[in-house]
Amino acid sequence: MMKNINPTETNAWQKLTNHYTALKDLHLKSLFNSDKIRKEKFSINFNEFDFDFSKNRITDETIEYLLELANEVDLKSAMDAYFSGEKINKTENRAVLHTALRNQSNNEIFVDGKNVMPEIKETLSKMESFTNKVVSGGWKGFTNKPITDVVNIGIGGSDLGPDMVVESLKYYKNHLNVHFVSNIDGDHVQETIKNLNPETTLFVIVSKTFTTQETLTNATTIKKWFLQSASEKDVAKHFVAVSTNLKTVGKFGIDSDNIFTMWDWVGGRFSLWSTVGLTISLAVGFRNFKDLLIGAFEMDEHFKNTPFEKNAPIIASLISIWYTNFFKSESEVILPYSQYLSKLAPYLQQAIMESNGKSVDRNGNAVDYQTGNIIWGSPGTNSQHAFMQLLHQGTKLIPADFIGFKESLYGNTEHHTKLMANFYGQTQALAEGKTKEEVHLDLKTQGKINEIETLLPFKIFEGNKPSTAILIDKLTPKTLGGLIAFYECKIFIQGVIWNIYSFDQFGVELGKELAHKNLLKNS
Ligand code: F6P
Repeated sequence: MMKNINPTETNAWQKLTNHYTALKDLHLKSLFNSDKIRKEKFSINFNEFDFDFSKNRITDETIEYLLELANEVDLKSAMDAYFSGEKINKTENRAVLHTALRNQSNNEIFVDGKNVMPEIKETLSKMESFTNKVVSGGWKGFTNKPITDVVNIGIGGSDLGPDMVVESLKYYKNHLNVHFVSNIDGDHVQETIKNLNPETTLFVIVSKTFTTQETLTNATTIKKWFLQSASEKDVAKHFVAVSTNLKTVGKFGIDSDNIFTMWDWVGGRFSLWSTVGLTISLAVGFRNFKDLLIGAFEMDEHFKNTPFEKNAPIIASLISIWYTNFFKSESEVILPYSQYLSKLAPYLQQAIMESNGKSVDRNGNAVDYQTGNIIWGSPGTNSQHAFMQLLHQGTKLIPADFIGFKESLYGNTEHHTKLMANFYGQTQALAEGKTKEEVHLDLKTQGKINEIETLLPFKIFEGNKPSTAILIDKLTPKTLGGLIAFYECKIFIQGVIWNIYSFDQFGVELGKELAHKNLLKNS
């Protein structure tokens, strides 16, 4: 059961408030100097993941009080409710079960008294056989040619997740060309279809509700374009849909065999593990899609079964709360040191900001403390040449997640060594900074004696900027699944502690309504 406890009224919060006053001026450099085993102590390693939390502005005492906070708000009971299918999305009267979609155990999971696992397995096997048919060339278009291109038509969670995963797993891709159309901007759809051959293209319309203006408008435009070269009966060979709204999908003219169902207990932004991942499965094959699920399941298991003090998502969430609510930081930056993960930050923006961007608590009261963070970021090393200046010498405290891999995929060790030297160089520079004495010595060594006075203040780095390093063996479907699940766990944990409902998104409705009104006014 979820308890609706105001975190600021806990004893732990009071302890953290006092502790913050004592700790806020302590420098990471002195924390490292006074504790030789700091790195080991604040690291959590399991499976392919090494989490290094040591470059955060924390001590043993910080962790102790943060764990007390997690216990006082009864995170454990909330976790049991989350995994067991309790309707923790109270405002929509729904369970939150994206974890069931990747459940690899034999446990039954019940929603309204019905075990949902058989249906999930059945749907996965439908996805598998459809994927195999399309990838092998057995699925033929209306002129009997195999499919060469797949277009995913969706927006928000029906686009960002599949798009991010397909990009991240490019190395594992098969011969199918995959495209994504999301924006209602007509130029987006025209750019996408302009070079496509209707005879060899498969369209996957993804919409949980099948009412989303962007998706329906794009799908209708594409269908019209398709019907310029084909007839209505050919639609069945080229259009499939993923939705909970089977009736409206049928009205759109999609063959009932081509409908992949999903469930209302899967939130859009957590849906890539469901049939919403069909485009992923088509792009990299079902085996890889399955590995993605396995990786996520293993992260869920770690979260579910590991004591809080050794639990990576819990420690990460608590540290993030430490910065948000005590240091008053407002954003978190995601820095993957892999070009493949260039779409991770935009994906996490929806997952995190749509979930925890709330200002009313679970008792219906306005909160008087900060909740969801602003999420941003892009891959290193490019980001170093773009916005890192502000992290190093700006006035804002921005906790950073550095995500790196021990191995590159193509095995180019020269590049990878340089890449990872930058990864570590950045976390070290952020933490240690550069003192006045060091800058002085540098300028002297460079023979710039006359410039010391004028240049010195500008070259000092205060340091003490926090970061977490997430080092993963290798980018595979399995580790990617684990990484995404790690952030999903974090969303849930933070929502529990902030006492907000993370799984609704009423905040996006008003703008939609007004857009509709504007349309009616102008028509
Ligand atoms: O407008 C926000 C939203 O509801 C997201 O939560 C969701 O992922 C997206 O729209 C798309 O919704 P659907 O899959 O129903 O088309």
